[in-house]
Amino acid sequence: MTSFTKIPDTEVPTISVHSSRRISPINPNIYSGFTEHMGRCIYGGIYDPGNPLSDENGFRKDVLEALKELDIPVVRYPGGNFVATYHWLDGVGPKDQRPARPELAWLGTETNEFGTDEFLQWCEALGTEPYFAFNFGTGTLDEALGWVDYCNGTKNTYYANLRRKNGREEPYNVKYWALGNEVWGPWQVEQMTKEAYAAKATQWAKALKLLDPSLILILCGQDGTSSWDYYTLKQCVQPRVSPLSSTQHTLIDMHSIHLYTASSSHLPNVTAPLAAERAIEITSSLIDLALVENGVPPDQPRPTICFDEWNVWDPLRAEGSKGAEETYTLSDALAVGVWLNVFIRKSKDVGMANIAQSVNVISPLMTTKDGITKQTTWWPLWLFSRFMRGWTIATHVSSGTYDGETQPKWIRGIKDTPWLDVSASVNEEGWVSLAVVNIHEDKDMEVKVEGVVGNDVKVYTVTGKDVTVTNMKGEQAVSVQESVWDGQGLYTFPKHSLTLLRWKA
Ligand code: AHR
Repeated sequence: MTSFTKIPDTEVPTISVHSSRRISPINPNIYSGFTEHMGRCIYGGIYDPGNPLSDENGFRKDVLEALKELDIPVVRYPGGNFVATYHWLDGVGPKDQRPARPELAWLGTETNEFGTDEFLQWCEALGTEPYFAFNFGTGTLDEALGWVDYCNGTKNTYYANLRRKNGREEPYNVKYWALGNEVWGPWQVEQMTKEAYAAKATQWAKALKLLDPSLILILCGQDGTSSWDYYTLKQCVQPRVSPLSSTQHTLIDMHSIHLYTASSSHLPNVTAPLAAERAIEITSSLIDLALVENGVPPDQPRPTICFDEWNVWDPLRAEGSKGAEETYTLSDALAVGVWLNVFIRKSKDVGMANIAQSVNVISPLMTTKDGITKQTTWWPLWLFSRFMRGWTIATHVSSGTYDGETQPKWIRGIKDTPWLDVSASVNEEGWVSLAVVNIHEDKDMEVKVEGVVGNDVKVYTVTGKDVTVTNMKGEQAVSVQESVWDGQGLYTFPKHSLTLLRWKA
């Protein structure tokens, strides 16, 4: 949590860090990823058989090695919008017998060469947990139950045996499952009303939890600020008793929300993720409202927020059906820094967050046939995943604010947009990490940092010549620079930069 006092730009800003005041644990799942059958994310991204850079399974080794650096706990699959017409059975068994199908989300052809077993083996190679989304468009509950049994079944059942026949004896134990994706959107095959969705999600959840009560089921929310979110939470977060035993099952474990931010102007671009912060606060209240109004007993776990699509993306400049390959600037990297600060500040409510997506499609990591490029946005992600772990700690910021237009416009009326966007954490070993984005395009900020211990403060800085530079022109114009600060006097946070300061409390 970061509290804030607005001061005139002429005064010296202050950041006070209280390392002994732990607010809430940071769920490591906020550093999760997402791979969709879209553009070059799967084919040509993580899977590229025949390429000398790939292993015997067709998995790109350079991609795997790079993603391991991010220590990604969970990866969502197979969509996204793609899942609305996806039949998982098409993608298992001998590859030469798998059917090619028209793909209606991004208007391509799906060969099904890469499917459930390939993805789950890729997750094992990466050292990450899978998270599947069910087809709420053309899919059936029967098909969904079969998919769970295929992945997790241990008995002598048809789908568990099919998995064994396909070469996998042990269950995969897939824990996370989403009840559809963006089913409210007019772009969806089988778009639903909130009433129809809530009724269907409840029935599916009941059946799925009868099959396997340990599944973590994720409700399809919208952006966290809509009547869809209100209604679906109200209908689906209910006290439940299994009809077959006295065991109480919570039907819904998490509520998913999505948001993409972008602006061609730097300051609206970097302040846009603050919309996500407010969305998390509103969703959190809607969860509590459902718990209270529905009389859910307090010993039933409180659902958390699954922010399973977030990033900087302007679909007009990087169109979905053309592969959504964004070229990210330094400004976008700083926006990602603010996004990650939001997840740290809101750690109490966010149980998972998945950057959309992990490779090539609106991604910090790009491939060519010959190698990979780490975009500007890679570096904030790498820094946070490495250091911002443990607990969120109390922090207070006094600074001036940006007072111009925001994107979306409503941020201006609802939230402060300080020049310094800040979060802080402390880990098990007592290392304090302070992340500061100086969003100002032209002004270095000399800041009094209170709570720093010692004279050997590790400094990691992400910046560049100006906010428009990218890493897609053959050089790493933006990366992480390491240095040391003696902890004395004011610290200067450079204009348009993300800085992470670390010290032992
Ligand atoms: O991540 C790209 C797309 O954005 C996803 O398929 C969809 O869920 C969202 O609209």
